[in-house]
Amino acid sequence: MAKNVIIALDFPAKNETLAFLDQFPADEKPFIKIGMELFYAEGPQVVRDLKERGHKIFLDLKLHDIPNTVKRAMSVLSRLDVDMVNLHAAGTSGMMKAALEGLTRDDGTRPLLIAVTQLTSTAPDALKEELLIHTPMPETVLAYAKNAASCGLDGVVCSPMEAALVKEKCGQGFCTVTPGVRFAGGDVGDQKRVMTPEQAARNGCDYIVMGRPITQAPDPVSAYRQALREFLG
Ligand code: C5P
Repeated sequence: MAKNVIIALDFPAKNETLAFLDQFPADEKPFIKIGMELFYAEGPQVVRDLKERGHKIFLDLKLHDIPNTVKRAMSVLSRLDVDMVNLHAAGTSGMMKAALEGLTRDDGTRPLLIAVTQLTSTAPDALKEELLIHTPMPETVLAYAKNAASCGLDGVVCSPMEAALVKEKCGQGFCTVTPGVRFAGGDVGDQKRVMTPEQAARNGCDYIVMGRPITQAPDPVSAYRQALREFLG
């Protein structure tokens, strides 16, 4: 698995997204993440357009539904020729296995399939009082990750702080995709527990997802190259 920096393109529409990407030289094509906002605003065509421009794409739509629906939706996403997609591990093993089947193309290839364990926005109190899960958060996250691994998924989205433990428990080949990465001395924004790209690499992260430290930087291309240098060494 090739370690990489993924830029979160959290822009509301295609115009802003292209204006951002146009700052990069024609031969420099960052791995990008398209989330719900851009996808719902522009539809699947924005994915085709960005793929056409030569980018690898993580389509971050976090699917969660009955197995048959997720299988069919994954098959549609797979035809968009994206490189990575995700779902909620809370959909349980039936849904995760169906997702893998739907994703697999006729030639046997498929995008990487990554699970969200518990959203980082879910507080421990809500886990217990609203979701009625009485196992502490770190154990819950790890149990969901192990379940995803045993269903054949490729990895999980997790905090860089959890990456080493996830790999220890789920296998070194199980990918960790980690948001919450900031440059030393940078603005942490609404992220609570952050690591620098260099620390994330040392902690076993395979893909770091960075949004605002790159998209809002005065010089985004330099910020992206700095992230690559620090992360890949
Ligand atoms: O701007 P920033 O670097 O914080 O962006 C991080 C990206 O990763 C955003 O697209 C955010 O939605 C996503 N993300 C996250 N925390 C999670 C899951 C996804 O920050 N637990």
